[in-house]
Amino acid sequence: MNWRARFSEMVSAVLIALLVGCGEAPAASDDGGGDATTADASGDGDGDGDGDGDGDGDGDGDGEPRPAVPQPPDAEDLDPAPNVVEVALVAAPATLTIHGESVDGYAYNGSTPGPTIRAKVGDTLRVQVTNDLEVPTTIHWHGLKTPWNMDGVTWKQSPIDPGATFEYTFTLSQAGTFWYHPHFDTARQVDLGLYGALIVEDPAEPAVDHDWVFVMDSWAEDANEPQHGLHGSDMRWTVNGVEDGVLEIPDAGSTRMRFVNVANAGYLELDWPGTRQVAAGQGVLAAPKDALEVLVPGDRLDLERFDAAGGSVDVTAVASSPYGQTEVEPAQRLMTVASPPTAPATSAWAFSGATPTPDPLYTDIVYSLQGDVSTDTWAINGEQFPDITPYAVPMSTWQVIEVRNISFSAHPFHMHGLVMEVLSVDGEPPAVQTMVDTFNVGIAQTVRFGVLADNEGEWMTHCHILPHAEGGMMTVLVVAP
Ligand code: C2O
Ligand code: CU
Repeated sequence: MNWRARFSEMVSAVLIALLVGCGEAPAASDDGGGDATTADASGDGDGDGDGDGDGDGDGDGDGEPRPAVPQPPDAEDLDPAPNVVEVALVAAPATLTIHGESVDGYAYNGSTPGPTIRAKVGDTLRVQVTNDLEVPTTIHWHGLKTPWNMDGVTWKQSPIDPGATFEYTFTLSQAGTFWYHPHFDTARQVDLGLYGALIVEDPAEPAVDHDWVFVMDSWAEDANEPQHGLHGSDMRWTVNGVEDGVLEIPDAGSTRMRFVNVANAGYLELDWPGTRQVAAGQGVLAAPKDALEVLVPGDRLDLERFDAAGGSVDVTAVASSPYGQTEVEPAQRLMTVASPPTAPATSAWAFSGATPTPDPLYTDIVYSLQGDVSTDTWAINGEQFPDITPYAVPMSTWQVIEVRNISFSAHPFHMHGLVMEVLSVDGEPPAVQTMVDTFNVGIAQTVRFGVLADNEGEWMTHCHILPHAEGGMMTVLVVAP
């Protein structure tokens, strides 16, 4: 259970591949660009072979080739209509191979990560979800403003029973990188492998040559723990199910590389030299960022390559934790990227440069995040879900929400159904306008958000460290007519 001990064990970790179900590696995505993606990457195809300090190019000292980093499969669109995307997902038990060991997990359509759903702004999305699990489930569309009865929560709504099918349907109004996951027994079901990316494109944004998804999960050292990583002791990251693989970039085309942190608890501080951040969960940023921020559980960021960086480069996870203990941990290599030694093309992103809405300095709602790290007991304003008193606000009003973290852990604060603008962090406004659905509130920090209550419903509001949410750090914000 000790974070630090887990992390140092990682240094001597054996090579891990996580492959799901029927034993077939997830295929390279067909993104319509005809590129070869990663399917032919191999352990010695990257031309470096020695950048990792152990001399055999795979980091484990046994000379086995490193696996290719695959793309998750793309979901098949079952409806030929141009503005409708229809997808069928089956949630079912699956045998995962983690750290070379078989683990009883879950998967969508036999794949962990599940299929990537791609659609565009204005499309109608229809997803038939069949529950072949032995327990109820739902799907929540993280970051999207869906109608409340499509939000996949069981606060005053019923889950999908075993054997049943439910159709989620809604119109996509936001562009960005989103993801889907169960919202019933969430910590356990996400932890066991139920998650996938949902990409909403905006035809007004640049079309890139390579639009790739990297679903990041972290796993416990002991893969046979039935709920691996549930308490945040999980610091062995996989990229699309593969640990320490090789990503072969076939050409110097332009890129948009979408990272999703689906880990139950792991904070991910990415280091990919030669890239910059151009977008986040809620779409293209107001200004690009060179220094990457920590990607907290539930959140997303999109990188663009702009520098050849010598043809082969290691992408690492700098040690990072919600409990503030980071300095002594070693970095973990996530993957090695092999690419032609030519500077890649970049895209003409329409960064708006918009300035933040000025903080009006009044407050409508205060959420105090409280709890006890040692017992995993957590609360908001002294209340533990489901014994809560929801705030209710009228539709179409603008609300100022102040989130005060008075605990000894950081918390990725997440709100369903609405988009939040960051007004200030400890009194400092962000450099540019920052729209989020998930935002880290550091230890002892106060973050103020402006929220337009433009979607009627009873919206779950919680910490996205899932054991914290399960431990009580969850409430509901009602947007009433
Ligand atoms: Cu990503 Cu309430 O969830
Ligand atoms: Cu938390």
